[in-house]
Amino acid sequence: MKALLLAGGIGSRLFPVTLGVSKQLLPVYDKPMVYYPLSVLLLAGIREVLLISTPQDIEQYQRLLGDGSQWGITIVYKTQDKPNGLAAAFLLGEEFIGEDPVCLILGDNIFYGLDFSKQLEGVVERTKLGAKATIFGYTVKDPQRYGVIEFDDKGVALSIEEKPENPKSNQAVVGLYFYPNKVVEVAKTITPSKRGELEITAVNQYFLLSQKLQVETLGQGFAWLDTGTHESLLEASQFIETIENRQGLKIGCLEEVAFQKGYITKDQLVEQVQPLQGTSYGDYLLARYS
Ligand code: G1P
Repeated sequence: MKALLLAGGIGSRLFPVTLGVSKQLLPVYDKPMVYYPLSVLLLAGIREVLLISTPQDIEQYQRLLGDGSQWGITIVYKTQDKPNGLAAAFLLGEEFIGEDPVCLILGDNIFYGLDFSKQLEGVVERTKLGAKATIFGYTVKDPQRYGVIEFDDKGVALSIEEKPENPKSNQAVVGLYFYPNKVVEVAKTITPSKRGELEITAVNQYFLLSQKLQVETLGQGFAWLDTGTHESLLEASQFIETIENRQGLKIGCLEEVAFQKGYITKDQLVEQVQPLQGTSYGDYLLARYS
């Protein structure tokens, strides 16, 4: 399974904060935003990642994340000249994806919840074996900002609409998607929406109509956080700070996840964290693992 990690866009709703820096590099409490979705991929057992960003921002991602070998994974990079929709990622990533199934994750989405990695591992296995795609629904109070899933009485998905004025439910589609390899061909068949974008919702509609879409729900105890506005970005930082300080454990700590997953050894972890000694991030890791 490969993954596409999207870190493009101009982040216009966060101007002037994002005039000089890419949104997904902004801090969410104690680490860059992109660490959180990247840690989700590590937890899911996905170790080959294509990061897509703009031509002006890609170098900063390369400086921050390198080739991924420090976390026992591979990260390669691709630029997208103009933002023409999430589904365009499958066209940009066609060669990278090759014959494999693929996960798409948005670089500004934060996920936190019990047993999430087990759930993800299950979805990865199922996607590898079968021809079905999987998306996740989450209850929100402002569904018109998102893709929205309509269910029948038995919980079977009936429709998906992108940012509907009159949402048919309060179930938003989160920014994490799993597809069989066929998604590359599907992405080639869709046409731009009214806002001129190749919508991921159109891809999902295709799989839904072909009865090849599995919708899993992320329940009440789960946190799916948005970082698209000043308020939600601050709330996300406060959420991470609250949980981390209460438990003394870090969320989205790539070195720790890589070690726990067996991608790197304890010695490798300690060695690479040395330069961070004296920071709360570095001292946390050194206290736990050296
Ligand atoms: C995108 C998708 C939308 C999804 C959302 C999740 O919205 O188009 O269906 O619910 O991500 O964050 P956008 O970020 O383009 O507003």
